[in-house]
Parts: sequence; C-alpha cells; structure tokens
Amino acid sequence: IARDDLFVHYTLESARLGNRPMVERRLADLRGCFADEAAFEAALRQGNPLLYSVSSVEPAAGDGQLHYGLGILQPGKIGAEYYLTKGHLHAHRPAAEIYVGLAGEGAMLLEDEATGESRLVPLRTHSVVYVPGHTAHRTVNTGAAPLVYLGIYPSNAGHDYAPVAKNNFRHVVIERDGKPMLVPREKK
Ligand code: 6PG
Ligand code: NI
Repeated sequence: IARDDLFVHYTLESARLGNRPMVERRLADLRGCFADEAAFEAALRQGNPLLYSVSSVEPAAGDGQLHYGLGILQPGKIGAEYYLTKGHLHAHRPAAEIYVGLAGEGAMLLEDEATGESRLVPLRTHSVVYVPGHTAHRTVNTGAAPLVYLGIYPSNAGHDYAPVAKNNFRHVVIERDGKPMLVPREKK
C-alpha cells in the first residue's frame, strides 16, 4: 500500500482527502431525484449550482479492506425538499457503511431494500450513523451550512445507482414549519 494511502490529510473547508480528485454533482446531474419537478426546472433555469462533491481513498482491494470518502453537501432546497445526494445501494448488497458527521446538520434517509421500510437518522457533528447492508441511503442537508461527512465502507461495496434512479426513495425529506419532516412521496 502506498504511503500516501496510509496517512491522508483533509480540511473541513475544502472537504478533500489529500490530493484525491473531487467528483462533483451539480443540479443538472440530479434530474429525477427531487419530487417537485417544476421547482427543479425553475431552479435549473437560474443556473447549475454545485450540490455536492466527494473525494475517496481506495488503499487496497480484497477481502477485509476498507475504502472511504469525504463528502460535502451544500445547503439549499428545491421547493420544500432539501438538497440531497443521488443515493444508492451497494452493488455488493450486504456491504454496510459508517457515516461520521464532521460539520453541518443533515440526515441520512435509509430504505430497506427488502421491506421498503424508511428511516430518517440525524447526521451531524459528533455523531455516527450506521447504514446496514441491503439499505438504500441518501444524505440530505437540513441546515444552513455545508454538511461534511466521512463514509467508510468495505472495498468491495461498489455503487448501484440503478434501483434509486428507477424508483427513487419512497419518502422525501421536506422542510415544514422550519423543521425537517419525512413524508411519503406523492404518486404521479
Ligand atoms: C459510498 C458513500 C458516499 C456516497 C456520497 C455521494 O458508498 O461511497 O455512501 O461516499 O457515495 O455521499 O452519494 P451518491 O454516491 O449517492 O451520489
Ligand atoms: Ni454508500
């Protein structure tokens, strides 16, 4: 393992792991994710802001090894729905993940693939969220500042975006009376 994979520096400001590339997701990349399509198109006519970026360290592959990623999700809303990540299942379904909140205030939307059961779990500084295997996960920023978090996962986890791209999550996280709320997605 390369020495610069054994020790990696980051700052909360840049939310970048060492010199690893940042994968950037802009509003246009999130087409189909937000419930309010009219609000999405209206926002896109105003510009194509950066919603989140992730840099990852992949020191080694193989059984028992770990990868990790540092994410920074900007604050904002489309309609009443908070800025969010695409969300995914791990390609290797049993792979769990640990999220460590480093800055800002948000939540993880977790949806069990087998039962469809949804849970909204706070993600913030000084807190750790366990994402079980077989669980679709999406991060939302419910605060006014950037949400910064570290995700640690088995090296063989992989990402499967297809199920969420097709069916989205069953619930949406919206602001109501100034507070985050989990509500069932309206059928189209
Ligand atoms: C992972 C983590 C995490 C995630 C980012 C971006 O498995 O790698 O869950 O690093 O990828 O939060 O979210 P999306 O991958 O859903 O765009
Ligand atoms: Ni993941």
